[in-house]
Amino acid sequence: MNLDVNQARLNAELDKLASFSEAPAPAVTRILYTEQDLAARAYFKDLCLEAGLELRVDALGNTYARWQGSEPNLAAVATGSHIDAIPYAGMYDGTVGVLGGLEAIRALQKSGFTPKRSLELILFTAEEPTRFGVGCLGSRVMSGVLGTQGLESLKDNEGKTPNEARQAAGFQGQLSDVRLPEGFYHAFVELHIEQMPQLEQKGIPIGVVTAIAAPATLHIRLEGAGGHAGAVLMPDRKDALICGAEIAQTIETIALSTGSIDSVATVGIFDIHPRAVNSIPSKVFMTVDVRDTDLARRDGMVEAIKDAVRSISGGRKLKAVIETLNADPPASCAREITEATELAAREYGLRTLPMVSRAYHDALFMARLCPTGMIFIPCKDGVSHRPDEYSKPEDIERGVKVLASVLARLSMS
Ligand code: GLV
Ligand code: MN
Ligand code: MN
Repeated sequence: MNLDVNQARLNAELDKLASFSEAPAPAVTRILYTEQDLAARAYFKDLCLEAGLELRVDALGNTYARWQGSEPNLAAVATGSHIDAIPYAGMYDGTVGVLGGLEAIRALQKSGFTPKRSLELILFTAEEPTRFGVGCLGSRVMSGVLGTQGLESLKDNEGKTPNEARQAAGFQGQLSDVRLPEGFYHAFVELHIEQMPQLEQKGIPIGVVTAIAAPATLHIRLEGAGGHAGAVLMPDRKDALICGAEIAQTIETIALSTGSIDSVATVGIFDIHPRAVNSIPSKVFMTVDVRDTDLARRDGMVEAIKDAVRSISGGRKLKAVIETLNADPPASCAREITEATELAAREYGLRTLPMVSRAYHDALFMARLCPTGMIFIPCKDGVSHRPDEYSKPEDIERGVKVLASVLARLSMS
């Protein structure tokens, strides 16, 4: 298939999207339902309308842009990703799959191709866990893994639920309508930067994802006793920070001692209260992100972390509350999509590398709805979730070409 991907236009659009940010460039911060997030969504919607796509927005803000196929009653083929960005992130995570997905559709339109099945581009709401603690909020609800009751139990830092926050941001409709029925899509394919250095190191332009690792998130709250930093003697203290620090160090030991390099655990948030120079920290809030390619091993780590929290806090006579926000199984990618990706890459003379995604993606939840796959492209030094995240325009272009060809194949199947 002879495809004309407009690399310059796509790059200009990625740059423009990066300008909707709460952090100064080159950092990008775009948190769910903030002014910048809403402005970025408006920009995306304008681009979709310019491309002649039909727009639909659900009650959570998941945005669907459809290119009607010649047989519109058949289940559509979908692609897409997210545009939210964690604090001080870069400009390629997620956005390459959204604007790259749009460019793939435009390249197909320009080539004269007519899809049989409709092609649908999805901008997923909040793949990043920043605001409500769990990742893939939009696709989690879409796939029915998180229901309306579960949504009510999530709160942001100000105590707002997703329902309150989405209404304040102007998203209307019933949350119960966000869920998609099984069979709604024929297939889903997500284009994404690799976020690891394998493709770059091996000089291979296309990663064919075979599976997505299993993520879990814990919230840990510790309560000890505060007091005067000069007047409370060391043997009498119940310092929540010291207790949390011991827990954090033990979490590292637990992840290091599974015997597998695939086990990872991260304390990403560690807040202390009251946070004053001459006051003993009385409370800690910490988050733990635990992942593994093997579900049993991931669950083993989660249990070991919970045991450690109980024994360390008990030994220090602090109160501990542990909450499991999510503990998701891994997902396997569908053979028909990995094969279509291999064929598409071969068509353009591009080498491929099968790989497991250690990061999670909306594809993790779309895999519950329909056959799902992912296409990875290299990023510099494998860096991601940092302002210096970078993918070369020519690498993005290759990814878009392969994506377009995969979408074309799937839309005719
Ligand atoms: C997604 O950003 C992840 O944390 O894997
Ligand atoms: Mn990310
Ligand atoms: Mn991402």
